[in-house]
Amino acid sequence: MRGTPATSRPALGDGTARTALSDGTAGSAAETGPAGGPRHRATTVGGPRPRRRRAAAVDLREVTKVYGTGDTRVHALAGVDLVVHRGDYLAVMGASGSGKSTLMNIIGCLDEPTAGRYVLDGVDTHRLTQRQQSIIRNRKIGFVFQSFNLIPRVSALANVELPLAYAGGRAAERRLRATAALERVGLADRLGHEPSELSGGQQQRVALARAIVTDPVLLLADEPTGALDSRSTAEVLGLFDELNASGRTLVVITHESEVSAHAKRTVRMRDGLIVDDVRRVPVSAQPPLWEPSTPTVVITDARGLVHSDDRGDSDGRHGVDDRGDTDGHHGAGAGPVPTGVLP
Ligand SMILES: Nc1ncnc2c1ncn2[C@@H]1O[C@H](COP(=O)(O)OP(=O)(O)O)[C@@H](O)[C@H]1O
Ligand SMILES: [Mg+2]
Repeated sequence: MRGTPATSRPALGDGTARTALSDGTAGSAAETGPAGGPRHRATTVGGPRPRRRRAAAVDLREVTKVYGTGDTRVHALAGVDLVVHRGDYLAVMGASGSGKSTLMNIIGCLDEPTAGRYVLDGVDTHRLTQRQQSIIRNRKIGFVFQSFNLIPRVSALANVELPLAYAGGRAAERRLRATAALERVGLADRLGHEPSELSGGQQQRVALARAIVTDPVLLLADEPTGALDSRSTAEVLGLFDELNASGRTLVVITHESEVSAHAKRTVRMRDGLIVDDVRRVPVSAQPPLWEPSTPTVVITDARGLVHSDDRGDSDGRHGVDDRGDTDGHHGAGAGPVPTGVLP
């Protein structure tokens, strides 16, 4: 799938997007150019290393989804090509009924395409059994929904531990990781609270902690701020920015332009097709509205993979870490590599 020349398929609604971005990533809907990561690894101490191409987080080719039969047939997706590279931050917009949720269900392995191909982080989902699909979903994707989908009458900590329980592992380790995820979203002081004891914004932050606790390749959100007031919306969007700034890949479905303004790239859907594709900043740049309130520490490991680590104080967002560089900026060229999950 790699190396397909961008010219081999029609550039879908390039809109105002630049077709050749500074990081070499094509600006068309297919975005079939090189992944956003490799150039960074070349800067690693120890001289040049072989450029290993990394699979895109999401790679959809001519994906269709047809509901019903005969007269009631609905082409919810009518042939979608979409490549989302690791580290990208994509907003999916479109009117009600345009196919956004269908697309989300397919990207999230919650539903299968009628035709076409979907490769998730290098794994062709077509050949997977239902059980394998649920494993891959658990391992590679973190979900955030409009209605939070937390388990009632269970603590925030237990809610966040849940995906780890599915994945196995020791109880102490699960507790540690869930606590760290809740700290990261600024809820260190709410571990024992049940959803009903939390505000909507706090509940969505618990859901976000649950989504990131497994360290997924992809964070997938469907109208994540749809049920939030403006202050909570700003908090959640700030967290999305931070997560993306530290390398996580985000796909956010929204009809709010306030939400899409935070994304690096916005695609627009109509009648089951992507009709517009606008990139605001390169995959390797920081998200456009990110405010680096927390210094980000970039660590390069022995294999030249770059980890980012931002440490905060108890609210997870405003701490000062003496290990960090002072301004927390890395510039587009040297920004954190979209690492997602590191083995
Ligand atoms: N389970 C289903 N059965 C039949 N039609 C469906 C089903 N799910 C969605 N659709 C139809 O597919 C189209 C796209 O729906 P959807 O993906 O939910 O759009 P959006 O999320 O953009 O509002 C709509 O016409 C919708 O009515
Ligand atoms: Mg929808």
